[in-house]
Parts: sequence; C-alpha cells; structure tokens
Amino acid sequence: MTFDIITIFPEIFDSYLKGSIISRALKAGLIKIRLHNLRDWAQGRHKTVDDRPYGGGRGMVMKVEPIFKAVAALKKGKKRRTKVILFTPRGKKINQKMAYQFSKLGHLILICGRYEGVDERVAKYVASDKISIGDYVLMGGELPAMVLIETVARLIPGVLGKSQLLKERITADRGFIEYPQYTRPEVFLPRLRRGYGRQAKKGKKWRTPKVLLSGNHKKIEEWRKKHSKIIAGLR
Ligand code: ADE
Repeated sequence: MTFDIITIFPEIFDSYLKGSIISRALKAGLIKIRLHNLRDWAQGRHKTVDDRPYGGGRGMVMKVEPIFKAVAALKKGKKRRTKVILFTPRGKKINQKMAYQFSKLGHLILICGRYEGVDERVAKYVASDKISIGDYVLMGGELPAMVLIETVARLIPGVLGKSQLLKERITADRGFIEYPQYTRPEVFLPRLRRGYGRQAKKGKKWRTPKVLLSGNHKKIEEWRKKHSKIIAGLR
C-alpha cells in the first residue's frame, strides 16, 4: 500500500513516522508513505497555495489548481485501485469497516487541507472520498491523515502480529471487540492523593475481577462478551 500525502506541513509527520510499528512496516516494505509539499505545485515567486474567498468573509481558502496538479502527478501511471481522500469535518465519519475497505486498495492519495477551508471544487471533482475523523474542527487534515494511516496500516497483513489481527477478525465477526484487560499485579493498593473521584476510596484496593483469575475459560468468555464495547461500523 502506498500512501501519498499532500500537505503544506510535511514536517508534522516526522516523529509519527519514526514510531515503532509504522517505521517497522515501512522498513519491511509493507507500506510506503510519501510526503509531498503542496507548494511544489504552486505558481509564482511566492508559491501561493491560498487566496481570499469569493463572496467575502474571514480567512483564506486553499486553491484548487495546485491540489489538482499534485493529484494528477501522483495518479500518473497508477490507474487502478487509487482513492483520493480529502479530509474535512464535512466528510463521512471514518469507521473500522471503511478502514478494512481502504486496506484492500493499493494506493491512497491523502489531501490535507489547512486554513479556513479548501476550494469546494476539490471536494466536488478531485476527491473520490471526503473523510472526517469526528464532529469537531481541527486546524488541518494532517492529524486526520495520521489517524487514517494508522487505522488502515494495522490491517495490512504483516504489519501487526498475525495472531493479534486474527483474534480481532474473529471477535469482529461476532460483532464485539474491546473488552477490559488486566495484568499484574492482581491487587493494587495505590497511595491516593486528591483528584481520583468517588470510585477510588482511600485505603481501598484496586482488584482484578475474580473471574479472570479463575482459569474457567467459558466464564471468562462470558464476562468478556458482557463487558465488550461494540464498535460502530465494524461489520
Ligand atoms: N479538518 C478539520 N477538522 C477535521 C475533522 N474533524 N476531520 C477531518 N478533517 C478535518
């Protein structure tokens, strides 16, 4: 899978791409991530990528032309299985099912908008998919791009350990996933100061649920099922 990222702040991705699992996947050649500075496709001495909005109003709008040129250049010679994603709070909210679908493709071009917005012709004509990561407004599409890369990359065979993903698939098929987990110590006695809420009373031990220590796999399975959170769009 190749991710082509179009942004005016490529350096935002630096430390993220050095992170362990992503960098391992890059080194193993399981994914490719290419960063592109939108200004490389901008015109004039100042390499302008934004302009004032028609009709007036606050702020600047990212121009259609440099984005169109960037996408055209990155699409060249790769006709099939490419999607062009524009990140916008007005897009479709990303979920696990969409991530599975994207993970089967070979090439994703990610457009990170900035400023107050992107010329609507990018959404209308250039992007195949408009994606939001939630009902809130960020300052740009860079964080959403990292969210998408991580959600999609971990589904590509070999990126995570096989058994981990297999387990996830099985539980996903049954329509649940994400139950609470505990590890040692079995009982934890915290030294409490203020600020822990009513759950954590002073001198009270924090215990692991008994059933998880019982060795009774049927009971454990039932407990996990009961306490699982269903993730929307998983199936
Ligand atoms: N750009 C700004 N806010 C966003 C959001 N919530 N999702 C995707 N792109 C965005």
